[in-house]
Amino acid sequence: MTDTVDEVDLPYDDDDDASQQEKIEALQERLEVLEDQNEEMRDKLLDANAENNKYQQKLERLTHENKKLKQSPLFVATVQELTDEGVVIKQHGNNQEALTEVTDEMRDDLEPDSRVAVNNSLSIVKRLDDETDVRARVMQVDQSPDVTYADIGGIEEQMEEVRETVELPLKSPEMFEDVGIDPPSGVLLHGPPGTGKTMLAKAVANQTDATFIKMAGSELVHKFIGEGSKLVRDLFELARNEEPAVVFIDEIDAIAAKRTDSKTSGDAEVQRTMMQLLSEMDGFDERGEIRLIAATNRFDMLDRAILRPGRFDRLIEVPKPDYEGRKQIFQIHTRGMNVADDVDFERLAGDIDEASGADVKAICTEAGMFAIRDDRTEVRMGDFTDAWEKIESEESDAQDVSPTYA
Ligand SMILES: Nc1ncnc2c1ncn2[C@@H]1O[C@H](COP(=O)(O)OP(=O)(O)OP(=O)(O)O)[C@@H](O)[C@H]1O
Ligand SMILES: [Mg+2]
Repeated sequence: MTDTVDEVDLPYDDDDDASQQEKIEALQERLEVLEDQNEEMRDKLLDANAENNKYQQKLERLTHENKKLKQSPLFVATVQELTDEGVVIKQHGNNQEALTEVTDEMRDDLEPDSRVAVNNSLSIVKRLDDETDVRARVMQVDQSPDVTYADIGGIEEQMEEVRETVELPLKSPEMFEDVGIDPPSGVLLHGPPGTGKTMLAKAVANQTDATFIKMAGSELVHKFIGEGSKLVRDLFELARNEEPAVVFIDEIDAIAAKRTDSKTSGDAEVQRTMMQLLSEMDGFDERGEIRLIAATNRFDMLDRAILRPGRFDRLIEVPKPDYEGRKQIFQIHTRGMNVADDVDFERLAGDIDEASGADVKAICTEAGMFAIRDDRTEVRMGDFTDAWEKIESEESDAQDVSPTYA
C-alpha cells in the first residue's frame, strides 16, 4: 500500500489514476466473490431450513404415534338412544349404560343399534361397521336343511319325542289351544358324539316350514369374545323376525358350562352369554312360534341353571345305537352303494358293539375307499371288516377324550 500522507498531499496524476482504477476493480472483484459466497450460504441455509422442517414433521408424527400407542384400547358399545342430552350407549361385555356427548357431525352418523368404539372416558371415537357379517358367520339361516327322518336310524323313540315337542306345536298349534296347555318350548338333546343329535334337529326343521336358525356354541365362544351375549340376543331377535322358526343351538355346553374355579375374563364372558341365553329362554311366553332345540355331548358339564324346570321342557337322551339300530344305520348309509351279496349287515352290526351312528357312516365310506383302492366298484364284506378295524384302531388312539359316555 502507498503512504496515506502521499496520497492526500500529492496531486493526482495519470499513474495514480490508473492505480486507483485497479484498486476499484480489485474491490469490485472481491465484492463479487463475497456476493457469490453470500448466495451460496443463503442456499445452504435454505436447504438446512428445509431439512429442519422435515425433521420437525417426523418428530410430530412420531410423537403422535407414541401417544396413540400409549393410549388405552377402545371399547365396543352399542347406541341405545339419541336424546337431547346426548347419546345413550351400552357397553358390550359389562352391559353398563352411559350417557355421552357427541359432536353434531358424529351424531348424524349414529342411529340406535349402531356399533361404536368408545375410549376410557366413554366418548365415542368412531362408528364401527355393522356386524351383519359376524352374525351371518355364527348363525346359519336355513330355510330347509336336506336331512329327513328317513335318514336317521335306531333312535325312533327320541325322534318321536322331538317331533311331538317341536314339530307338533308348529304344525298344529290349535291342538294345544283346544286342550288348554302351553306347547313345549324347548328340548335338549344329549348323548355321546356322533349319535344323530345334529341330524335330528335338521330333520325337524326340514319337516316343518319353519326357518331353521343354527348357532354353534363353540364358534360363538372362541371367535367372538365380548360379543357373545349380544349375539344370543340377536339370534332370538332374528328368530322373532322369521317366525315360525326353530332355533338350534348346537354344542350348547360351550356357552352353558358349569362355573369353573378359574376367574379368567373368558370365563366371565361365557357366563354373561349364558345369562343372556337363560333370559331369552325365560321370555318364551312372548316368543310366539319359536321352538328351541339344543344339543350337547357333554351333559355332565352343563350348568344346572340351564336345566331348571321351565327352561327345557324335555331332556332327551340320544344314546349310541343298539344292534337293531346299527343294522338300520348300515342300511341307510349303503342305500346308494354297490354292495356285494356276501355283505352281512347282521354280522357287522353284531361285531361293532361300541360304534356310534357316525362310526357306522365312517365304516361305509372307508369300505368304499378300500374297494376303490382295489379297483373295484363293488364293495365286499372284507372291505367293511377292514374298514372297522382301521376306524377302531384310530379311535382307540383318540380315546380318553370323552369320558362322559364311555
Ligand atoms: N342315528 C343315525 N342314523 C344315521 N346316521 C347317523 C346317525 N347318527 C349319526 N349318523 C351319521 O353321523 C354323522 C354325524 O351325526 P351328527 O352330527 O348328527 O352327530 P351328533 O350326535 O350331533 O354328534 P356330536 O355330539 O359330535 O355333535 C351324520 O351326518 C350321519 O351321517
Ligand atoms: Mg352335533
